Amino acid sequence: MSHYLLSLQINGRDHQMMIESTELLVDVLRERCGLTGTHVGCDTAQCGACTVVVEGVAIKSCNVLALQVNGTLVQTIESDPIVLQRCFSEHHALQCGFCTPGMIMRCVAMVNETVALNSVEVADALEGNLCRCTGYLPIVSAAIEGIEQLRKMQASL
Ligand code: FES
Ligand code: FES
Repeated sequence: MSHYLLSLQINGRDHQMMIESTELLVDVLRERCGLTGTHVGCDTAQCGACTVVVEGVAIKSCNVLALQVNGTLVQTIESDPIVLQRCFSEHHALQCGFCTPGMIMRCVAMVNETVALNSVEVADALEGNLCRCTGYLPIVSAAIEGIEQLRKMQASL
């Protein structure tokens, strides 16, 4: 099988590697880059556990070929979005925690979207991220607080 050069900037660090055309972004992140905070839940673009941010947009990395995002900036949970991580912890917005990295990365993208910070709109925006423990109320509260703090921080720059 042919191999192709993949160049990504992941969490501010340049990565270059030869990959097969069929390799998924999630597999490249986890297996080639060792960034195992991005989880695989369903592998069929349903659960959102694999959510990462590519050029500011939240995507499900189990549903994207790595070569489709060649040359882009990628953020994973290892970028340490500390404000959101702290809010999720303070609101007890995790039980098993398996969905949490994907939830948080969806929130990272939401900071720059027009989502209003109320429970209806935020829950709606998190629709593609499933929590099998059904802890949605604290997740939405944590998301609202974290996104609000980050928007204020951005506005003050
Ligand atoms: Fe990608 Fe579930 S593992 S959406
Ligand atoms: Fe368990 Fe989300 S905290 S799946």
